[in-house]
Amino acid sequence: MSSQPIGIFDSGIGGTSIFKEIKVLLPFEHTLYLADSFNAPYGNKSKAEILALSIKNTEYLLAKQCKIIVVACNTATTNAIKELRERYDIPFVGIEPAIKPAALSTQTKAIGILATKGTLSSELFHKSADLYSQHIKVIEQVGEGIVALIEEGKTHSEAMRHLLRIYLKPMLDANIDYLVLGCTHFPYLMPLLLEMLPDHVKIIDSGQAVARQTRAVLERHDLLNNQTATIKNVFYTNGTTTVLEAILNGSYAIEKVKF
Ligand code: SIN
Repeated sequence: MSSQPIGIFDSGIGGTSIFKEIKVLLPFEHTLYLADSFNAPYGNKSKAEILALSIKNTEYLLAKQCKIIVVACNTATTNAIKELRERYDIPFVGIEPAIKPAALSTQTKAIGILATKGTLSSELFHKSADLYSQHIKVIEQVGEGIVALIEEGKTHSEAMRHLLRIYLKPMLDANIDYLVLGCTHFPYLMPLLLEMLPDHVKIIDSGQAVARQTRAVLERHDLLNNQTATIKNVFYTNGTTTVLEAILNGSYAIEKVKF
C-alpha cells in the first residue's frame, strides 16, 4: 500500500485525456500531472531530444515522490519508455496506438492511424504495425500541426478542420472502418471527428486501456492507496495555464512552474 502520488507527464495538455480515465478507475489515488507545454510538441523532435525531455520530466516527478509514472504521451512512450525502465527503479506505464483491436475488427481490411512523426517513425510502433500490415491496409498519417493547435486552444477552429480534411482524405479513399488515435491530444478532436467521418468509421483511443494497465501495475506491486481522505490532484505546467484550466473545467489546482 502506498499513499504516494501517481506521476503523469505529457508534452503538454493531451495527457489530461489519460488523467481523466485514471481518475474514473482510481478515484482514491493522489496524482501529479506534469504538462511540458513549453517544449511541446514533441512529435517532430529527435529520439535523443525526446529521451532527454522524458528524463527531465521523470526526475521532476521522482523528486515529488511519485510511486509510478504514466508516460501519457505516445511520442515519449514509443521513443523513451524502454530507456526510462532501464534507468529507474519504479514502474512505468506507457501508451501506444491501439492497432491490435482495430486490425482484428476491421471488415473493410483497412484502418487509419493518426499520430505524430515521432511515433510513426519509432521502432516500437513499427514492431506492432508490421504484425498486421501484411493482412490489412494500415494507412499511417502524421498529424502535423494538430498538437500545436490544441495547445493553443484552437481545437475546434477552422484551421483544425482544414488539417483534418487533408489528413482524413487518404484514409477515407482507402475505405477505412477504424481510425486509431495515436496521440493523447487527439481524443479532444472527438466532436470534430464524429462530425467529419462517415458513421461506419469507428474511432479508437487507448485512454481506458492505459487506466486499466495503471491499476493492474499498482495492484501487482501492492502500491494502491488505502487512505481515502482528502485526495490531491495537482497540475504543474511550464506553459500558460489558460488552456489547461479550460480543459479541466477549473476543477483542479494548477501551478505554473519551471522545469
Ligand atoms: C506531441 O507532443 O507532439 C504529441 C504527444 C503525443 O504523441 O501523445
